[in-house]
Amino acid sequence: MAVDTAPTPIDDVLQHIRPAVRERSEYTVDMPSGIDVKLNQNESPFDLSEEMKEELLSAYAQVEMNRYPTEQPEELRHALAEYDGVDPECILVGNGSNEITYTFGLAFLDPGDPVVLPRPMFSLYEKVMRLQETDLTTVPPRDNFRFDAEALAAAAAETEAVLTVLTTPNNPTGLAMTLDEIERVVTASSGLVVVDEAYVEFNPEGTAIELLDRHPNVLILRTLSKGFGLAGVRLGYLIAHPEVVRELMKARLPFMVDRFAEQTALAVLRRIDRVEERVRRMQASIETITEALQAMDGVEVVPSQANFVIFTTPVPADALQDRLADRGVLVRNMGGYPELEGYLRVSAGTETENNAFLAALEKSLHELPPDPAA
Ligand SMILES: Cc1ncc(COP(=O)(O)O)c(C=O)c1O
Repeated sequence: MAVDTAPTPIDDVLQHIRPAVRERSEYTVDMPSGIDVKLNQNESPFDLSEEMKEELLSAYAQVEMNRYPTEQPEELRHALAEYDGVDPECILVGNGSNEITYTFGLAFLDPGDPVVLPRPMFSLYEKVMRLQETDLTTVPPRDNFRFDAEALAAAAAETEAVLTVLTTPNNPTGLAMTLDEIERVVTASSGLVVVDEAYVEFNPEGTAIELLDRHPNVLILRTLSKGFGLAGVRLGYLIAHPEVVRELMKARLPFMVDRFAEQTALAVLRRIDRVEERVRRMQASIETITEALQAMDGVEVVPSQANFVIFTTPVPADALQDRLADRGVLVRNMGGYPELEGYLRVSAGTETENNAFLAALEKSLHELPPDPAA
C-alpha cells in the first residue's frame, strides 16, 4: 500500500504549539540604520579597555574549547559571593538574568498559580507569567509612577501569590523602592519574592540582600549587563537561600555559562575600581541629562535612580523618536506601556553622546508640531 507522502500543512503543525506561546509576540529591539549614538537599551556606553581585552585574549587562548564548562562557573560563583558578602551556596549564575527568569517560570509556576506584578515593569516578567499560564494580578503605580508597596503587599496576601516580582530601581521608570517598602511586601507574602536589582550599582537605596537573613522567601536577581558593562557577554546571577538555590539548580539549563564569559567577568571583578568609576560617570551623565531636560520648555522628566531616565515633551513621542533616529540618535519609545504613553527613555551615554542627544532633541523639538492629543 502506498504511503501518503503529502507534507503536513503548516497550520496543522502550528496547532501543536501551545496557545500561550502563539498569543505572544517575539521580543525585538528596533535598530534603524545610521545610528551613531545608541541610548535605547540601558547599556553601559563604556566597553572594556584595549589593555583588558588584550589580557583576555591570552586568557581565552588557554580555554579548552572541546570541553564542556563545569555545571556552574565555580570560580566566578566564588568571586561573586565574595563581592556580595554571601556564601557561594547562595549563588546561581546564569546566561544573563533573563535566562534565570525563565528558570523561575519552570521551577515555581504551574498553570493557574497566583502571581503579582507591579506596573509598569520590565516586560519580560509578564511574558514569562503568561507563557506559564499563571493567574496574574497586576498592581498599578501611584500617581508619580512609584510602586505602591501597600497595594502590592495586600495583593500578595489576598491572592496567596506563589511569586511576586519587584524591580528596583525599576525599568522603565528608574524609580527605586526603599528597603522598608520591599520588606513590607516580603512580610505580607507567603510565596517567593524576587527583587530584580539589575540597576543596583546606581541605586542610592542600595541592595536588599540583608533581607535574606530574615526572609528565606527573598530572591535577589542581578545582571552584569548594566553597571559592569557586559551586556554582550550575557551573565546574570541569583542570590537566595541555599535550599532555594539547590532546587533551582534542578530546573536550570546545563552548562549555561561558557568559559569565555566566566574569564571575562573574573577579569572585570578583579578591577572593580574601574566599574565603580564608570558607574559614577553614568550617574553624572543622568544628572546632566536630567537638568538639561528640565530646562527645556514643556519637557517633563521623572528623576531616576538608574542609568537611564524617562521624559515627555509637547510633541508626539513616535515622531520625536523617528526624528532623533534620523539625526543618528536612538532612544526608546515607552508607548508600549499604557501608563507611559508619550514618554521616551534615554540611557546614560558618554559626554559626547549625551551632548549629541541633547542637541538633536532641542532641534527636533523646534521642528515638530505639538501633539494635538496633548
Ligand atoms: C529590570 C531588568 N532586569 C533584567 C534585565 C536584563 O538583564 P540581562 O541582560 O542579564 O538578561 C534588564 C535589561 O534591560 C532589566 O531592565
